[in-house]
Amino acid sequence: MTIGVAVIGAGMAGRAHAASYHIASTMYESVLPKLRLVSIGDVNPAFGKAAADRFGYERTDQDWRAIASDPSIDVVSVVVANHLHREIVEGLLDAGKHVLCEKPLSDTISDAEAMVASASASSSVARIGLTFLRNPAIGAVQQIIASGQLGKVLHVSGKYWADYSSDPSAPISWRYKGGMGTGALADIGSHISYVTEFIAGESIKNVSGARFATSITERPVAQGAVMGHSGGVVSDQMDAVENDDYAAFTIDFGHSTGSIEVSRVAAGHPTSLAFEVYCEKGAARFDQTRNGEFELMLNDGPYGQRGFRTVQVGPSHPYIAGGLPVDAPGVNVGQNDQFFFQTRAFLNEVAGIPATEAIPNCPTFEDGLHNMQIIESVVQSYKGKGIEVQVPASNPTYVRGVN
Ligand SMILES: NC(=O)c1ccc[n+]([C@@H]2O[C@H](COP(=O)([O-])OP(=O)(O)OC[C@H]3O[C@@H](n4cnc5c(N)ncnc54)[C@H](O)[C@@H]3O)[C@@H](O)[C@H]2O)c1
Repeated sequence: MTIGVAVIGAGMAGRAHAASYHIASTMYESVLPKLRLVSIGDVNPAFGKAAADRFGYERTDQDWRAIASDPSIDVVSVVVANHLHREIVEGLLDAGKHVLCEKPLSDTISDAEAMVASASASSSVARIGLTFLRNPAIGAVQQIIASGQLGKVLHVSGKYWADYSSDPSAPISWRYKGGMGTGALADIGSHISYVTEFIAGESIKNVSGARFATSITERPVAQGAVMGHSGGVVSDQMDAVENDDYAAFTIDFGHSTGSIEVSRVAAGHPTSLAFEVYCEKGAARFDQTRNGEFELMLNDGPYGQRGFRTVQVGPSHPYIAGGLPVDAPGVNVGQNDQFFFQTRAFLNEVAGIPATEAIPNCPTFEDGLHNMQIIESVVQSYKGKGIEVQVPASNPTYVRGVN
């Protein structure tokens, strides 16, 4: 058996997916069927060809339908702008492909609900990449809390600081369109939301106190195509920013509480997902700028001798043992590795290899819908000047630990 692979979207995250299909099969034992890297799909032929050449795919397709109709392609990553996810994902599922869709699942609740229905009507594996679930240090903190060592979770503070929009000359792109909540909140708040749930061991039940801010209200139009956060030379034509540069809100897990704050204009923070979690018997904290470690505080010994200790991640923590070529303590990991583990989990499931504690399956489209319902609840709280808004009841797979 050979698994034929395609990636739709050759942009910033598409390249990570394209690379992942190379690396994923080399992580852990070589039990996967042989992979055939068939196509990179992108409407921009230059982007598609560059990615296909760089990552060793046989061809590039400008229209995703050429990928959907190719019987030699079995699995497809969908890594394009959020508002394009639904049409492409549903077309692929209709064609019998297994799909790994990027977060957030879509840009509207109605489209996300339709995608959940399409996935459940299909016999294909349809999964979403909530990539930070693959971070070994975050996984280590989750395991410590789930073991009960820190006692009950009291409160969680989550933040995601990024600076990709802090330069006013950065060009307008799909990321700046779609109304409040579709900006920093959907782009990076989507990540820290599920991370806080994963750590707390409970889903977010309601949100309140939502506040958005748009600091830079218009941006220049690029002269060429925009990829990721850059677009080369910009023109003197300006276009309106329609969504949030900054978002903050409080979260209620039922048994514990907390807050989330995200920004894409946080100068000096290229990309920094971070959290602190306070529990009955201690605390833990993590910052993506130091991916290879987490800090742990235990309420033991005399008060005057307590404090956070730094723990280097290694083979006793998730993902590393047997997963990395050098799976020794202190080897460190990065955001690219998270994509590799995510892709391996997706391929394992497609190939019928059972999920393990080290590498659980990817989250479901229902989990992706829940993630979007948190975002939508924040928008409703903002519209109601900070009112408390219930998030529809959900028990995500990554909270249940069933994957
Ligand atoms: N998991 C993560 O850590 C992570 C990180 C970044 C982005 N993302 C997600 O990945 C997705 C893509 O983000 P990005 O930053 O790579 O965007 P991007 O703008 O860098 O790239 C998008 C690419 O899609 C192409 N494209 C546009 N319309 C297309 C179509 N109809 N068919 C095929 N290709 C088309 C564009 O030419 C571009 O190359 C988004 O959903 C985003 O939220 C996830």
